[in-house]
Amino acid sequence: MSDRYCVFGNPIGHSKSPLIHAAFARQTGEDIVYEARLAPIDGFAGSVREFVAAGGRGANVTVPFKEEAFRLCTQLTSRARLAGAVNTLSFDNGAIVGDNTDGAGLVRDLSVNLATSLAGCRILLLGAGGAARGALGPLLEAQPAQLVIANRTAARASALAEQFSTLGPASGGSFDDLAGEGFDLIVNATSASLAGEVPPLPAAVFSAGTLVYDMMYAKGDTPFLAHARKMGVTRLADGLGMLVEQAAEAFFVWRGVRPETAPVLADLRRA
Ligand code: ATR
Repeated sequence: MSDRYCVFGNPIGHSKSPLIHAAFARQTGEDIVYEARLAPIDGFAGSVREFVAAGGRGANVTVPFKEEAFRLCTQLTSRARLAGAVNTLSFDNGAIVGDNTDGAGLVRDLSVNLATSLAGCRILLLGAGGAARGALGPLLEAQPAQLVIANRTAARASALAEQFSTLGPASGGSFDDLAGEGFDLIVNATSASLAGEVPPLPAAVFSAGTLVYDMMYAKGDTPFLAHARKMGVTRLADGLGMLVEQAAEAFFVWRGVRPETAPVLADLRRA
């Protein structure tokens, strides 16, 4: 019988993870099945237990359960502990092992798919919620010259920078604090796009060579990418690559095999 995996979320209907993992399984010859499972908002832990009892070997976790998954785990990897959130669970003889592959997925998309060297780079990270926190460890590990966190609520950005300051040159503040600063890479980790909004950034943060990255993805430009394009930026990327790369990293955690992501990403873009 095939090994069983799933992704838990709410809502979960539009998740691309089953497609991605099915493609990885075909490509690598790993005998797995992977399904989407809707967990009730107040019933995540029960859903996980049910899946384990039914023979589940591992699971991905998406909105809004990543922090709850973190609390449910009996063991955590260091990158999950740093992120304060879990997107990858492995079930092993009663243990629930939590990992977080989101930040690694982002860095791999940036460095491999988008051929961007992060070492020595000036990075602006927008947002100070879970998505930003998950990205911080892996981004700082890549040894940027500077990593500025800017957030609508400036105090959250400063607190986050303070927490991560032992890992690298992180500082935090408000959008207004950015006046006059230029960046090589801007990563949008806010959820502003969900409301069709764009964080109010000073125009000078965008320059011709800046790579502007939105963790969200959409058919066509996200509101943030559309704004950056209007500001004259030509290097733009949405979060579809990150989605595929975090999945590949989870697949590697579970199966010890690293799938090739390029053909899977190309298929998703075509679809
Ligand atoms: P996630 O897990 O997706 O990061 P979150 O923890 O709720 O979600 O964090 C959402 C982030 O998007 C926060 O940084 C939030 O800013 P605040 O800390 O000031 O709330 C940011 N955000 C949400 N809507 C925004 C908007 N319209 N403009 C700018 N920032 C926004």
